[in-house]
Amino acid sequence: MSEERLILRCPDDWHVHLRDDDMLAAVVKYTAHQFRRAIVMPNLKPPVTTVQQGLDYRQRILSALPAGSAFEPLITAYLTDASKADEIARGFEAGVFAACKLYPANATTNSDQGVTSIALIHDVLETMQRIDMPLLIHGEVTSSEVDVFDREAVFIDTVLMPLLANFPELRVVLEHITTQDAVDFVAAQSGNVAATITPHHLEINRNAMFEGGMRPHMYCLPTAKREGHRLALRAAATSGNPKFFLGTDSAPHTLQAKESDCGCAGIFNAPYALEAYAKVFDEEQAMHRLEGFASEFGPAFYRLPLNEATIVLERRPVQVPATLRLGNAELRPFHAGATLPWRLMDDAPTTR
Ligand code: NCD
Ligand code: ZN
Repeated sequence: MSEERLILRCPDDWHVHLRDDDMLAAVVKYTAHQFRRAIVMPNLKPPVTTVQQGLDYRQRILSALPAGSAFEPLITAYLTDASKADEIARGFEAGVFAACKLYPANATTNSDQGVTSIALIHDVLETMQRIDMPLLIHGEVTSSEVDVFDREAVFIDTVLMPLLANFPELRVVLEHITTQDAVDFVAAQSGNVAATITPHHLEINRNAMFEGGMRPHMYCLPTAKREGHRLALRAAATSGNPKFFLGTDSAPHTLQAKESDCGCAGIFNAPYALEAYAKVFDEEQAMHRLEGFASEFGPAFYRLPLNEATIVLERRPVQVPATLRLGNAELRPFHAGATLPWRLMDDAPTTR
């Protein structure tokens, strides 16, 4: 392997928001260009809760793909207080749902129909454990007394630990982790507990939201934390521990919706996600560990085959545009206006 060129087994994104309608049409090509598969979040309006909604959403994603794309969306079911174990199981067994997503009610974008109390979904979790269906968790408590920067750590202690004690065999992904606490917790669990890590949480700490003024494009949930947490995430991602794998949490909102009195949470990193991860792994002198993190540990956890195709990354600077068009609106990608040192070479997995 030359230092300037890296051939990787084609990666997958284990956590992405592709949205719907015009936004889906605008953003899906970026994820399909970089990844062979993706776990697609169900926080639409209305959320994806039934098998039929899952089938329909999958079809809308496939219809929005560029011609010839081999990209495969993996659909997830949004858990609510009213979720029914038999509907969830039917969706999993039919291959429609790859996993369930647990949003604590009101924790983040479009989570108002999320779960208000774990006790209410006891039957669903019991069934998921029995049929070996993964549970993907947005790990933050929501009560206003808990500081926004402590919400992940408090969730681990007060919600996740009791949940895993009740369902020790349940396969769980703690999504988009942001703290040393989450790294330590996940590392200490048995093989059925894993975590995804985003490119932005590897690159920014919470200062980025306030650098010279309010920076809405650096705001996402869970928010970036102190520098020490960022360093812990970098160590985990580049450690070679298969519990930690790639999930971008690319979460597009229009520029107008971000730059507002009540700006939406979410960082849109899909266009240069691999470039962003490559920069981090290179800085950590861990390029040899990128393939495990991006292309091997996720499929192993989800019990899916490894991708056969390959992609090529080259040490060749690439400039990230300041904005991308979305009809009459605009999107601001992560790293807008910056130059990244590695780039994905053009023949994307779609053409192999
Ligand atoms: C996500 C979104 O916009 O849907 N936002 C975010 O800040 N990450 C929701 C989520 O994953 O929390
Ligand atoms: Zn997300």
